Amino acid sequence: MVRTKIFKLLQSEGLLEKVLIKGWVRTRRDSKGFSFLEINDGSCLKNVQIIADEELNNYEEIKKLSTGSAVSVTGELVESKGGGQKWEIQAETVEIISLAPDTYPLQKKRHSDEFLRTIAHLRPRTNKYGAAFRIRSELAFAIHKFFRDRGFKYIHSPIITSSDCEGAGELFKVTTLDLNHVPKRSGATDFVQDFFGREANLSVSGQLAAEMFALALGDVYTFGPTFRAENSNTRRHAAEFWMVEPEMAFCNLECNMDLAEELTKYLTAYVIEECKDDLELFAKFVDKDLMSNLENTAFSEYIRLPYSEAMEILNISNKKFEYEISFGKDLQSEHERYLTEKYFKRPVILFDYPKDIKPFYMRLNQDNKTVAAMDVLVPSIGEIIGGSQREERLDILVSRMDELGLSKDDYWWYLDARKYGTVEHSGFGLGFERLLMLVTGISNIRDVIPFPRTPKSIDF
Ligand code: 4AD
Ligand code: MG
Repeated sequence: MVRTKIFKLLQSEGLLEKVLIKGWVRTRRDSKGFSFLEINDGSCLKNVQIIADEELNNYEEIKKLSTGSAVSVTGELVESKGGGQKWEIQAETVEIISLAPDTYPLQKKRHSDEFLRTIAHLRPRTNKYGAAFRIRSELAFAIHKFFRDRGFKYIHSPIITSSDCEGAGELFKVTTLDLNHVPKRSGATDFVQDFFGREANLSVSGQLAAEMFALALGDVYTFGPTFRAENSNTRRHAAEFWMVEPEMAFCNLECNMDLAEELTKYLTAYVIEECKDDLELFAKFVDKDLMSNLENTAFSEYIRLPYSEAMEILNISNKKFEYEISFGKDLQSEHERYLTEKYFKRPVILFDYPKDIKPFYMRLNQDNKTVAAMDVLVPSIGEIIGGSQREERLDILVSRMDELGLSKDDYWWYLDARKYGTVEHSGFGLGFERLLMLVTGISNIRDVIPFPRTPKSIDF
């Protein structure tokens, strides 16, 4: 007897031995003398058909099996006579592990994404969400594979920090103070009495830690959860999301853009190659243009363009945008999508953004107005990667921090890295959920996260 999974059965060639398979009933159909059970074990999109003969001693019980019930089946793998599947299992035993009552919310019909969000604990049992979360798992693996194959070292950056890397103030505080009796000193909260003896928060980015390790190990990356208390309810922002952040010593902006393009292409090509069945579902039911979008991202050469030139293109576009465009303003998603979907019809890397809309750590360009920043924009999503060459010159970094009113005492260790053997270095952050939206065509970030966290929503 081989304990197996459906995805293994599909790969097996003529292996006609006894199998044990466990899963959940999708449907039951009774016929004269036997019952057909479609079961799914979550290992792949396909179900396996079980034929339960009336000779089975618990046949009357089997005929009560409802959608969502759990079963354990032993039997012989036989070639299927019906269409649709190669193998089916002629059951020798069907053990009913548990029966689901008919209040099981996932009946055999299409449910809306909005409804499924309200039952996020059950939605991975649907075809669509099962596929989405299998792809999520595959892509996480592909990320590690990409970097490992290229000699990058994986760094675990802290989740609780005392710094605000992006300087946007979108921090979730971490405290053990009694919120009903907050200790005060001269009118303000006395964080000296808090757990860490000072203010602490959840990390918005692992970058600062990754920089320290790039300046020791060369090429490194982090891949973990990050947290932003942005109070914006958009379809591409979550309060908790995962970011992939490579950081490379001895690497300038161009080398950084090269890696960003290579990574984005690699990951989309990986999904096309390795997730065929699951991808097919999205191409069929979610986004008709998915495959051409993916192939475009995986195989076309990306446009590279300074921010100022992008502004000119947007200015003369004659398109009515909701948000106005002018030099010095950040691009909105509608602008990013115009450039990638309408104008260039492929991914675009914008670089050299005005310094005033970018964080303190980005390297100042010779014009004193722009910094060596770069964003990768892709069709249907907009920004998927944000990165930069870092300011490695101590004096310029210090004056940037002064300009922005940042405390040099808080960042003493970050400044130290510019004192001792400073070198040019660069890195970027790839939003893992944005990547998943790109490869599945799912248009709301909430639907690529197992248990999404957004403003006013933290059930489950
Ligand atoms: O552009 P961002 O803010 O860059 C950084 O955090 C840098 N420290 C990264 C680095 O250079 N190491 O964020 C990077 C990416 C964005 O391009 C976007 O894909 C994603 O992270 N992202 C979000 N994804 C989901 N929800 C949010 N609220 C996000 N904010 C950023
Ligand atoms: Mg950004």
